Amino acid sequence: MEKYKKLLEIAKNSLKYSYSPYSNFSVGAALLLKNGDIITGVNVENASYGLGICAERVAVVKAISEGNKEFEAIAIVSGKIKNCFPCGSCLQFMSEFSQDLDIILEGENNEPIVKKIKEFLPYMFSGKMLNFEP
Ligand code: THU
Repeated sequence: MEKYKKLLEIAKNSLKYSYSPYSNFSVGAALLLKNGDIITGVNVENASYGLGICAERVAVVKAISEGNKEFEAIAIVSGKIKNCFPCGSCLQFMSEFSQDLDIILEGENNEPIVKKIKEFLPYMFSGKMLNFEP
């Protein structure tokens, strides 16, 4: 649990880099790799609203583009609310790389809430349905 508290702290530290002038809803993510490295992400919005990207997907894209796809956990925080759930698009995006990922949220009492990605997305669409195993 200490490990996940630290992960939440790292996600919180990244909130200052969120580019969210349109929603004013900052989100920070900290992705823990199986090798122990941590990669952060923030939401990045755009004047063309639909182009904005969530913090979780930024973290995952950073990791993949650096050759890392073994994920253990991702902590997600918002500067506005506690217990900030990942959106459906991010769940699908993350499930591509780990169907056993721990999702770490910040509970009301500051204790980490730990849930498996499968709890959020029990029926994930996967490469198996395309007869494809990456
Ligand atoms: N947002 C995330 O970064 N992650 C989520 O899982 C949900 C929403 C961002 C998108 C947008 O910049 C802001 O939060 C408000 O929707």
